Amino acid sequence: IRVYVPRDAAALSMGADSVARAIAAEAKKRGDKVEIVRNGSRGMLWLEPLVEVETPEGRIAYGPVKTSDVEDLFGTGFLEGKAHKLCHGLTAEIPYFKNQERLTFARVGLIDPLSIEDYRKYDGYAGLTKAMAMEPIDIVDQVTKSGLRGRGGAAFPTGIKWKTVHDTHNAQKYICCNADEGDSGTFADRMLMEGDPFCLIEGMTIAGIAVGATKGYIYVRSEYPHAVDTLREAIRIANRANWLGRNIQGSPYHFDLEVRMGAGAYVCGEETSMLESIEGRRGLVRYKPPLPAIEGLFGKPTVINNVLSLGSVPIILDKGADYYRDFGMGRSRGTLAFQIAGNIKQGGLVEKAFGVTARELIEGYGAGTLSGRPIRAVQFGGPLGAYLPEHLLDTPMDYEEFTKVDALVGHGGIVVFDDTVDMAAMARFAMEFCTIESCGKCTPCRIGSTRGVETMDRIIGGIERERNIEILTDLCETMTDGSLCAMGGLTPMPVMSALRHFPEDFHRPVQAAAAE
Ligand code: NAI
Ligand code: SF4
Repeated sequence: IRVYVPRDAAALSMGADSVARAIAAEAKKRGDKVEIVRNGSRGMLWLEPLVEVETPEGRIAYGPVKTSDVEDLFGTGFLEGKAHKLCHGLTAEIPYFKNQERLTFARVGLIDPLSIEDYRKYDGYAGLTKAMAMEPIDIVDQVTKSGLRGRGGAAFPTGIKWKTVHDTHNAQKYICCNADEGDSGTFADRMLMEGDPFCLIEGMTIAGIAVGATKGYIYVRSEYPHAVDTLREAIRIANRANWLGRNIQGSPYHFDLEVRMGAGAYVCGEETSMLESIEGRRGLVRYKPPLPAIEGLFGKPTVINNVLSLGSVPIILDKGADYYRDFGMGRSRGTLAFQIAGNIKQGGLVEKAFGVTARELIEGYGAGTLSGRPIRAVQFGGPLGAYLPEHLLDTPMDYEEFTKVDALVGHGGIVVFDDTVDMAAMARFAMEFCTIESCGKCTPCRIGSTRGVETMDRIIGGIERERNIEILTDLCETMTDGSLCAMGGLTPMPVMSALRHFPEDFHRPVQAAAAE
């Protein structure tokens, strides 16, 4: 009997390893033959560790399972998928999971992440097989036609970026995957790397063939040691199986991959500072132009894409551009892996076509706040994204619709706050975050953020409030217009959205502000 116990970091943090050991020990004690598969996470994080048992009807889910539950589970027949207070029935029928549109995450949680046989059984390498039979420029065209836009947050059309690199004439080009997922409340890149690493490897190999690059780097943040280990092992397996390296599957194509680890700087998620870091230097932002697509890693033309952009490529090549672009709304085509976090009852990953509303994600999938108190503010798109009030939650998740309300969809991170949140403190936090994470290269960000913290302290402390709010607004304008990169350029977004939507928090009686 196959029993699935996730190896995803979220499940591990909730004791999945000891649960797996307890299941093995209990099965041995009872003489039951059990094969434990360490899969990725299904993304229903409040149920982790989510243990699944394979039955003739399908996989039955139990969670969250603690080691102390294991004996009882065996006693009530969980190996036959029998009812138990932790049983949720068939995993595929759990509404949170069933109502998603899983394209990029189709295999995550389903397969053993390091089994290339499992990967191939569920359509793995079908996209690359097709790509190897195409002209490189036709691969680029397919990606352009699919409407795929950069999933890291900037939403730049992936096909156009690839075309720029394709059109350069250089013997050496590179593919760099940005896996420095630094946004607060986000974990989709990690889940894909830990749950379906071959998908990323396949996407990068296709990108290499499309633009004429023979070498790729995956830049993973140091906070993701499990993802690093899984990727390194998957690269070894792909090399052995001849899906990487020289003459892939007998074709004329070569592609080598290497994992590089960051050292904890948020700004190394900015693409040029990531290149500096891969080259072995401190993560300082470079001036643009030249674009990395023209002069990137080691001065060579380089495609830089986020994990999820590259992870969406295999299904586009396999099922066709039209299949992918049929999902979504407006100019936001396909799906996005939304990550619901913060004060939320059912936090996790929900892959849906663009157009789903924030309210459906937070109140439907997420089931509202964990505290049970009313939602007051939601931050979208990481620490540099806007805070929106409850009445704007019917905004569809679409890049352009979010721009209309001065917000960002970004990398799909959604962090929920209840009515106890102090939005002036959150605005101060945004400025403080920028002082800590600024690379220091340009003045508006390096000095502006420090002045921003001081100004927020005066506002919170009740000192010349109106005047200081004016100074803060002016400072935010300077940072937006004058910063070299998104770090300083977007910090004003959370600050100004807090001021715009929650002005009362900037005028609280000093006593009350100090007491909290
Ligand atoms: P950007 O708009 O400057 O560039 C977007 C991408 O398009 C870059 O890769 C750029 O090199 C490329 N590009 C632009 N014009 C091109 C052309 N003509 N040909 C080829 N390539 C071209 O945005 P940037 O600074 O790269 O990213 C900012 C975004 O990053 C923010 O909007 C934010 O949402 C996101 N972000 C994501 C984080 C995460 O953890 N995923 C963390 C922090 C920010
Ligand atoms: Fe560095 Fe900040 Fe300027 Fe970006 S905005 S280059 S992080 S100082």
